[in-house]
Amino acid sequence: MGLQSLLIPLSSPTLHDILIFFIIVVAAYMVKFYYAYFTHENKLPGPFPLPLIGNLYFLYRELDDILFDLQEKYGSKLVEFYIGSERKICIGDANLLEDINKYSSNELAGKGIGFNNNLESWKHNKAFLAQSIMTPSFWKEYIKEIEMIFEDSIKLMESKQQSSSFDINFKEWAVRLLAIEGYTKEPISKELSYKINIWIKSIIFHRLLPKFIATYVPPFNLFKKKYLKNDEWLKKYFDDLVEKRREEINQMKKYNSDILTTLICANTKNKLKDEEIRIIIYETFIGISTTTNSVSFLVYLLCKNPLIKEKVYAEIDKVFHNDKTRPITYDDISTIKLPYTEACVNESLCLISTVLYTLRCAIDDGNACSFNWKAGQKFIVHYNFIHLNKKHWEDPVKFNPERFIKNDEYIEKNSFILFGGGNKMCPARLLAMNSIKIIIVLFFRKYDIELVESEAPLKRSCVLLINECKELKVRIIPR
Ligand code: HEM
Repeated sequence: MGLQSLLIPLSSPTLHDILIFFIIVVAAYMVKFYYAYFTHENKLPGPFPLPLIGNLYFLYRELDDILFDLQEKYGSKLVEFYIGSERKICIGDANLLEDINKYSSNELAGKGIGFNNNLESWKHNKAFLAQSIMTPSFWKEYIKEIEMIFEDSIKLMESKQQSSSFDINFKEWAVRLLAIEGYTKEPISKELSYKINIWIKSIIFHRLLPKFIATYVPPFNLFKKKYLKNDEWLKKYFDDLVEKRREEINQMKKYNSDILTTLICANTKNKLKDEEIRIIIYETFIGISTTTNSVSFLVYLLCKNPLIKEKVYAEIDKVFHNDKTRPITYDDISTIKLPYTEACVNESLCLISTVLYTLRCAIDDGNACSFNWKAGQKFIVHYNFIHLNKKHWEDPVKFNPERFIKNDEYIEKNSFILFGGGNKMCPARLLAMNSIKIIIVLFFRKYDIELVESEAPLKRSCVLLINECKELKVRIIPR
């Protein structure tokens, strides 16, 4: 019996041999997986994972609902769960954020700002965006633009109506007011908005799913193909747009203070590359989406709370002396002039968070939240849970703007993070807050607003990390 006879079973394996081999491989993988699971450092409460898929089996529901239930079941501090064999840690307690904000960054070596973990280009890009939305000329054009679109749309609507009051989908109107030209001076088609939404999904998809599963495991591999095709479409669209704008600027045909023009023209040593401009513009589109969702949630909550709504009317009337048409100035929408309206915006964003959570990654080995972590550990900061955590808020589900009128000590540190925290904080928080106030002023000084179906639940869904208002039907009645 030589070497040859030993090799025979391998050269022509029977079904039985293949089965045994397969069982051995699976058993070895399971032993390795559960050995790693039961012996890993920093064991935390969380659901029991399955080999290969981890806790992916619960992804048949919206991710935020799943995370919310996990934190309620296993505690708000740190909860672990698995996507494939990768461990994620979810945080729902404000007291742990200081550590995480200092110690973590994004996990994608992407471009732009929000999804960029290259410290240098992130800083550079963020400063560019912040500058472009700070200039007085930006604000002047921006407010004027929204007012113009509002008046044109109202005139068109009134001309079609028999009676003076009419029903609109408020969410759609908010998108129309902000998205038409404010940021790029280019109309945003439905197709483009759809593609940007797909892009948002693709980012989270790439960040949450291990590469192997995303590339090879159906149906995830099909999603990946769809996302790549979408990226190509967007790239072409924006490359053409940037090129066209450059030409217009060179020929001095168009020079406005919109974000796109300012980014292209920024006169510094390190000019932004076209690719960076493109990604920053995508990100501002996410900003349009968060702002329009936020103002829709606010209007819903005001309609549900008529006494609070009355106070907003009173505040706006006081600032505008009942003048329903005079142009709005930057000063009119300041915190000093509209403190109660601003408190309502904050309270509504706390009650119905627009950004539900964010993703973080440990930048090096180190200690955070009383544990030692290895570089690369992934975290989910659960904004929505923190905003509704009874530990931080008294009666968190009650719409109570007064809590934002009282002094700051009343609000626990890091428990109110609607614009994020640490150095990753939203660079456009002032733009977002002012845009919401402009829309509220435009509608409220002219119209009384009521829900068309006062008892119907809010139509919302979670587009991965963004809480989206699907539709908000309201009745507009002249005041
Ligand atoms: C009500 C509207 C908005 C809300 C609630 C909001 C919320 C947030 C939050 C929570 C973050 C932090 C994410 C993280 O920590 O990973 C963030 C980051 C960011 N936001 Fe906003 N945002 C809004 C509007 C906008 C607008 C209008 C723009 C752009 C014009 C914008 C641009 C950005 C960018 C570029 C970042 C990334 C910052 C960084 O990574 O350093 N946001 N936003």
